[in-house]
Amino acid sequence: MAARQMNTEAFNAETVRAEFPILATEAHGRPLVYLDNAATTQKPQCVLDVIEHYYRAQNSNVHRGAHYLADLATRGFEAAREQLAAFLNANGKEEIVWTRGTTESINLVAQSWGRKHIGAGDHIVISGLEHHANIVPWQMLCEEKDAELKVIPVTDSGELDMDAYGTLLDGPVKLVAVSHVSNALGTVNPVGEIVRLAREAGAITLIDGAQAVAHMPVDVQALGADFYALSAHKLFGPTGLGALWGRYALLESMPPWQGGGEMIERVSFEKTTYNAPPFRFEAGTPDISGVIALGAALDFVGSLDHDSASAHERDVLDYCVARARQCEGLRLIGDATERLGAMSFVLDAGHPADVGTLLDRQGIAVRTGHHCAQPLMARFGVPGTVRASFAVYNTRADVDALFTGIEKVKTFL
Ligand code: ALA
Repeated sequence: MAARQMNTEAFNAETVRAEFPILATEAHGRPLVYLDNAATTQKPQCVLDVIEHYYRAQNSNVHRGAHYLADLATRGFEAAREQLAAFLNANGKEEIVWTRGTTESINLVAQSWGRKHIGAGDHIVISGLEHHANIVPWQMLCEEKDAELKVIPVTDSGELDMDAYGTLLDGPVKLVAVSHVSNALGTVNPVGEIVRLAREAGAITLIDGAQAVAHMPVDVQALGADFYALSAHKLFGPTGLGALWGRYALLESMPPWQGGGEMIERVSFEKTTYNAPPFRFEAGTPDISGVIALGAALDFVGSLDHDSASAHERDVLDYCVARARQCEGLRLIGDATERLGAMSFVLDAGHPADVGTLLDRQGIAVRTGHHCAQPLMARFGVPGTVRASFAVYNTRADVDALFTGIEKVKTFL
């Protein structure tokens, strides 16, 4: 699908909102105010159309059939891989492995690269801001290999303690795995510096980009990391799909982690040889319509004027934080200087779960709870938070609705 033309002079949120049919729906009889974009973004019409079109006119398996539809599906599937490679400024499409999501991308690295290279006594460094998906796979690996998990501490403002990180790098560190943007607090981590220091220490680096890709341009070559993981559904694409970007030489040195069709070169009962990356890591029939739809989502992102869209997003988030500071009985959890996409808070008035339920009754969708980041919640001494998270289609009016909702919640609790 060709990128559509948009007015690049000034960002028009209403034009963008009009592309997302679900934003015009109601929740509990009230206009939907969708502030749960860190959990999943909504899908523009072009993505919905492509999924429908795929099953109506293209459906076939990829890389397998010598017929018209198989060729059509394969070309669409591989074109989207090329698009994602360009989106991330990868060296080529061979560096893009399709997975089920960020979680699976991280598990792939842990199970393939990790099981080959991590040994007894080695250290793996993560941070105290991580989602469980960037904690548990490494814990499992450490347990299996008798390695140690080390954690970069989080400051009171919800930022990483970089001095402590420097000290951790004095150890026998083999891998550093950190998030680009915290899903729970919105903190933007200094990943360029984290990667640079890790490389100096001889460690491999993985960046969990799930919460970054919808909000900022990512250039994996400039970043200098070894792996970058992301999910399609947080980038206006479908659920159940993600990608792992990896340096080709590294991917080539890694053993497969799941066996099946597509990942092989030749199979006999005596010996099986494996396909080259990325196919080596793509056993089984992939999410073909999802991949092609991600291509449409990338077209959508590409159709936005990046500078004005970013300025709009920043304005809405800054406005939300400013309103939060003035809101009596509201405590921000984390207050990083560099923040993107999300704001977390608790209310003196009541438990985050009750706050979330009462906001929901007013049509306002937020996430409450531990946000799959229990160690981070423990760090701040809270059972959970209320999180408002934003996408390019949110407006100051959504923020106003949130704070009107919060005032009402206070009267109920
Ligand atoms: N990781 C997603 C979130 O933060 C599900 O809500």
